[in-house]
This record gives sequence, C-alpha cells and structure tokens, in this order.
Amino acid sequence: MLGNTLKSALMISLLALAGNAMADITFSKTTDGSALDIDKSTFDTPAAKEFLATGKNPYVGNEDAIKAGKKKFNLYSCVACHGGKGEGAVGPGLIGSNFRYAKNATNKGMFETIWNGTNGGMGAKGFGLMAPDDGLTPDEVLKVIAFIRSNSNVKMTGNE
Ligand code: HEC
Repeated sequence: MLGNTLKSALMISLLALAGNAMADITFSKTTDGSALDIDKSTFDTPAAKEFLATGKNPYVGNEDAIKAGKKKFNLYSCVACHGGKGEGAVGPGLIGSNFRYAKNATNKGMFETIWNGTNGGMGAKGFGLMAPDDGLTPDEVLKVIAFIRSNSNVKMTGNE
C-alpha cells in the first residue's frame, strides 16, 4: 500500500519535472512589457504548436507559407502602412536590421507586436484597419512574419 503511494508520488513529481522541461514560452506586450495572455487553443496547427513550445517560427523560408503570408499582409492592410514588401511607408520598414523595438528582430517579439500593437501608432491585429473580423490567427501571423522575413535585406530569419 505504502509502496504504491510512494511510487505514485514519485511518478507525479517526475511528470511535473517533464512538464516543466516542456513549458510553453510566455508572451509579453510590446506596449508595456506586461504579460500578454493568448488562448493556447488558438495555436491549432503543428507550426503554431511548435512556435508556442520553442518561440521559433517554422514557416520562415517555407515558400507556401510565405505566399499565404503575403496575401494576409495585403488583406490586413499591413501593406498600406508598411509598403508592399514591408520596406516602409507611413509606418516604419520591417525588413531590418534597425527596428524601433529591438525585440522585433526575433519572431517571438514580432509576433507580440503584431498581436497586441504598440503605443506609437501600430494597432493590434483585430483592431482598426486590421479588423474585418476577429483578426489573424497565430498560424496566420506566423505566415505574415515568414513573408516579412523573406524580404529582409539583411537575410535575417528571426530564429537566430
Ligand atoms: C494604420 C497603419 C498601420 C497598419 C495597418 C499596420 N501597421 Fe505596423 N506599424 C505602424 C506604425 C505607425 C508603427 C510604428 C509604431 C511605433 O513606433 O510604436 C508600426 C510598427 C510595426 C512593427 C514594429 C516595427 C519596428 O520597427 O519595431 C511591426 C512588426 C509591424 N508594425 C507589423 C505590422 C503588420 C504585420 C501589419 C498587418 C497585420 C501592420 N503592421 C499593420 C502602422 C501600421
């Protein structure tokens, strides 16, 4: 009896350890650095799940994802403020290497910026010009980022 209890206690702590080792990344707002809560169930594709676990964007360099991302970049008005290739227009250039917010050199940082906006004129997905419906899904944001990185003049992947 006691043996079994001990064994299950051990199992539980082992599971807890394994769970910690595989903990998801956490997001923070570009506006003020506070915690950004995103419903984990919306990370519903293999690529989105991988991103949630590692912070790396598996779509970077993937031609199909880049094409899909380009369509969303146009559809969600990113193009209106950032130019057709993210080279910059009313809004700043997105293709590096100088970002207004240094975190946008990483795909995790850029994801947070697109998801929740900034204080200086960048609306969040789902708001303002980007609000035809509920906005982009995590998977779609990753594709948009893959498109932006594909135009990078400094050949950055954001997964460095
Ligand atoms: C209404 C104009 C507008 C639209 C539409 C818009 N942006 Fe922006 N964006 C801006 C402005 C202005 C900034 C600079 C904000 C600041 O300095 O706080 C910005 C900043 C950014 C940044 C950070 C750049 C840096 O240098 O750190 C990223 C990334 C970005 N936008 C991506 C996007 C994407 C992707 C879309 C489409 C889903 C989009 N934006 C749509 C105006 C816009």
